[in-house]
Amino acid sequence: MGWRCCWCIPKVEEPQANTRSDTKSYPWEIYSLKELLSATNNFHKDNKIGEGGFGSVFWGRTSKGVEIAIKRLKAISAKAEMEFAMEVEVLGRVRHNNLLGLRGFYAGGDERLIVYDYMPNHSLITHLHGPLAADVQLDWSRRMHIVVGSAEGIAYLHHEASPHIIHRDIKASNVLLDSEFQAKVADFGFAKLIPEGVSHLTTRVKGTLGYLAPEYAMWGKVSESCDVYSFGILLLEIVSGKKPLEKLPGGVKRDIIQWATPFVEKGSFDSIADPRLKGRFDRAQLKNAVRIALQCTDSNPESRPSMVDVVEWLKGGGVRRKEVVFAKDMIGEDDYNHDDDDNEDDSFTVSRGLGLLTNATPSTKRTQIGAKMK
Ligand SMILES: Nc1ncnc2c1ncn2[C@@H]1O[C@H](COP(=O)(O)OP(=O)(O)OP(=O)(O)O)[C@@H](O)[C@H]1O
Ligand SMILES: [Mg+2]
Repeated sequence: MGWRCCWCIPKVEEPQANTRSDTKSYPWEIYSLKELLSATNNFHKDNKIGEGGFGSVFWGRTSKGVEIAIKRLKAISAKAEMEFAMEVEVLGRVRHNNLLGLRGFYAGGDERLIVYDYMPNHSLITHLHGPLAADVQLDWSRRMHIVVGSAEGIAYLHHEASPHIIHRDIKASNVLLDSEFQAKVADFGFAKLIPEGVSHLTTRVKGTLGYLAPEYAMWGKVSESCDVYSFGILLLEIVSGKKPLEKLPGGVKRDIIQWATPFVEKGSFDSIADPRLKGRFDRAQLKNAVRIALQCTDSNPESRPSMVDVVEWLKGGGVRRKEVVFAKDMIGEDDYNHDDDDNEDDSFTVSRGLGLLTNATPSTKRTQIGAKMK
């Protein structure tokens, strides 16, 4: 792709269409403004399907009859230009079944438009906490399918894309769902490309409150394990239907890990499942998912699994014992051994005991670093 630097308007060279080995059959295109205006009825308000930090998202139909989603940058600034460049740059170089497909873009004058495949089933947030939450279209098997798909998309970014990519904004609104409810990880505006041999970078903190790994929120230390942490939060959110952060009466904020941990300590995994599922879930899978989520959100980034491990555990149904540390002081043996279904190896132990406390970055601290709160 012909970017000279993130601050310049791109010099557009021949699209790399169909040159990527794992590409789907369609190419990405450089659209004309005229075509995108016509596809969206001049960005008519009735075509608007969402709004985010970058700008508005519109539904459209191309002259060839293809449904598309167009993200329209709301105001040009150096920061916004950087996000636009990053999104196009990153999405232009990756292609995976669980990453949202880039169809093309337009950059000219004051307009910055990014064209994606349209996802008819919206985003996970719409189903978990938004207008479609009451419909409960996400039954247990769909949820598990989405969890595995998102994990595979992130694992591809971390381990297969070259250079490796850290997403930095994994969250429910950035997982879109296609017509079959397949997960498509989206929004690469905050992504970081990691040069070969570099283990972590220190950057300004971007991302969304409730999903930020503590070492990243506090010190801007970013590595793949920050995405693993965010994925752990997302995983718990998907199985429980709870928001990553909730405000308790009195204004105190509690994160989803603080909420779930007492249930895990008591072995009462069923209490974690989304009540909207009305008990229709696979208990072994639920337990496995919660265990994985807790490992992913370990306060020590070194103790978190890789996304490849996570995919394997999600598919294979087991967290390995060796990585789990027993916080004896926090949990009695009885509590630890007790569980609500007994015919499994319950040797998972909550490693967060003390960690949970340190991990719970005070919300004031989080707000100071300027992350987004939705
Ligand atoms: N390709 C798409 N197909 C269908 N709907 C989409 C598509 N892309 C985005 N949307 C919708 O538009 C909404 C806004 O997306 P956007 O990424 O701009 O903001 P966000 O993810 O909600 O917040 P943030 O700016 O923090 O990422 C999404 O929640 C989703 O419902
Ligand atoms: Mg988004």
